[in-house]
Amino acid sequence: MTQHTFSIIKPDATKRNLTGKINAVIEDAGLRIVAQRRIHMTEAQAKRFYEVHKDRPFYGELVESMTSAPVVVQVLEGDNAVARYREVMGATNPEQAAEGTLRKLFALNVGENSVHGSDSLENAALEIAQFFSPADIVG
Ligand code: CMP
Repeated sequence: MTQHTFSIIKPDATKRNLTGKINAVIEDAGLRIVAQRRIHMTEAQAKRFYEVHKDRPFYGELVESMTSAPVVVQVLEGDNAVARYREVMGATNPEQAAEGTLRKLFALNVGENSVHGSDSLENAALEIAQFFSPADIVG
């Protein structure tokens, strides 16, 4: 089933000029980048995006890190895109990420783990709607 998922290339990766290398891995995995924008997330945007984690001890650090430099927000399209992109990213903690995954290749640590991807189809729709309007998505 063709799906859309939401992706963020995080500040640790944009600071190291890795956008193109990450996009190459995404495209080589058969996912199509159908919307993409480079933005500097505001504190309000980061807080809203990660609201589900607001009671976690790392929430403050997470919001600070996501607003520390530009990010690239993306919509990825493909067969089973939500699960497929999670495979391509690898485990949240790069120490547990499989060989060849984005986080194994590029992440620095669990907080600076280079990419975000939606964890369900429902969340993908909500996350996409936070940053894109339907007209931005050109499949
Ligand atoms: P992400 O997929 O963007 O979703 C939530 C983020 O919280 C996660 O990636 C990590 O970057 C971050 N995170 C999760 N666990 C920790 C942790 N123990 N310490 C710091 N950051 C974390």
